[in-house]
Amino acid sequence: MASLANVLLSRRVQEMVINGEEPESLYICRDENEAQNVPSPLAPIPIIDLNLFSSSTTKTEEEEEEELQKLKSALCSWGCFQAINHGIPSCFLDEFRQVTREFFQLPMEEKNKYCKGIEEVEGYGGDPSPEEGQFLDWQDRLFLTVYPHDLRDTKIWPQNPKSFREDLESYTCKMRIVTEIVSKSMAKSLQLEEHCFLNQFGERAAMQARFNYYPCCQRPDIVLGLKPHADGTGYTIILQDEVEGLQILRNQQWFTVPTLPNALLILMGDQMEIMTNGIFKSPVHRVVTDREKERTSIAVFYTPEKHKEIGPVDGLVHEERPAVFKKVKDYEITHWEYYQRGMRALHIAHV
Ligand code: SIN
Ligand code: FE2
Repeated sequence: MASLANVLLSRRVQEMVINGEEPESLYICRDENEAQNVPSPLAPIPIIDLNLFSSSTTKTEEEEEEELQKLKSALCSWGCFQAINHGIPSCFLDEFRQVTREFFQLPMEEKNKYCKGIEEVEGYGGDPSPEEGQFLDWQDRLFLTVYPHDLRDTKIWPQNPKSFREDLESYTCKMRIVTEIVSKSMAKSLQLEEHCFLNQFGERAAMQARFNYYPCCQRPDIVLGLKPHADGTGYTIILQDEVEGLQILRNQQWFTVPTLPNALLILMGDQMEIMTNGIFKSPVHRVVTDREKERTSIAVFYTPEKHKEIGPVDGLVHEERPAVFKKVKDYEITHWEYYQRGMRALHIAHV
C-alpha cells in the first residue's frame, strides 16, 4: 500500500489549484498566530550598492567605508540587505525569471521527468512529507546543486525550456562573482582580513539553486507558502519577481520584504551567524500566499564545503565578546545535513 508520504509526494500544489480544490488539512497552519492574520508593514531593508565594493570602481575611501558600515548595520539588525549594482544585467534577470515561470507552466508529465525520489532533496516536487505536528508549504519547487560541478546531477536539470540549462550555468557563474564580493565586503565591514569568510567557505563551497513556485491560494489567511524558518546556509541569495510574499520576523513582528526590480536579496543563514560569533543575524522568515497572484522566486544557497570546521572566526572572539558558539568540524548531524534540514531549522539549537 502506498504510504502517506508517497501519496503526498505524488501531489503538486499546482495540480490542486488547477483542479479547483480547497487546501487540504495538511496545508493548514496549526497555530492561528502563524497565519497571515494582520497586514504586515514593508520592511525598510537597507539597499547596498555592490559597485562601491568593486576594485575597478572609482570611489573615495569614505564612500566605500560608509557603504561598509551600512552593510554591517543591515546584517546586525535585519540579517539581510538588498544588493543593487551587482553586475548582472537586468535583461538577463528578466529572462531567467521568465524561463523559471515557463518551467512551472509546462505540463505536469514534462516536469515530472525531473522528479525527486522519496528521500531526496534534489529535483522537482512539493514539500516533503511533514514532520510530526508540521504543516505543508503551499509551494512546488525545483532544487538543483549547481556548484561544484562534479556534484551536479544533470539528469534532473530540465532540458525544457530550451535555454534553462544555459541560463542556469550562466547564473551560477554570476553568483560565484557575487559571493566573492559579498564575502569579502562582509569581512571588511567587521575589520577582518578580506578572505576570512571565503577561507571558511572553502574552494568547494556548495551552491544549490531552488526555484520556488507559489500558486494562488484560496485561503491565504490559514495557508503559508513557506513555513517560518531560518536558513541553515552560510547565506542565501534570493531573486524575487514583482509579487510580494517573503516576510521577515523582527522584534516579534512580521515585515514584508519589498520587491525591488533587479535587486538581489542577500540573507544570512545560521552559519554566518556562527562565524561572526552572533554579530550578524540569521533571520526567521516565511512566505505568505495570495488569493490572486502567483509568485516565483529563485534562491541560491551558499554553504561552506563539506567537512569544514565551522565556528566563530578568531578576530571576533575576545575577552569582551567570548565565543557564543563553539567550533564544530562535523556536527552531530554534520553541518552539511544541518544545512539540508535547514529549511526546518527553526528549532535546532545552535551549537
Ligand atoms: C522566497 O520565495 O522569497 C524565498 C524564500 C526562502 O527561500 O526562504
Ligand atoms: Fe529560507
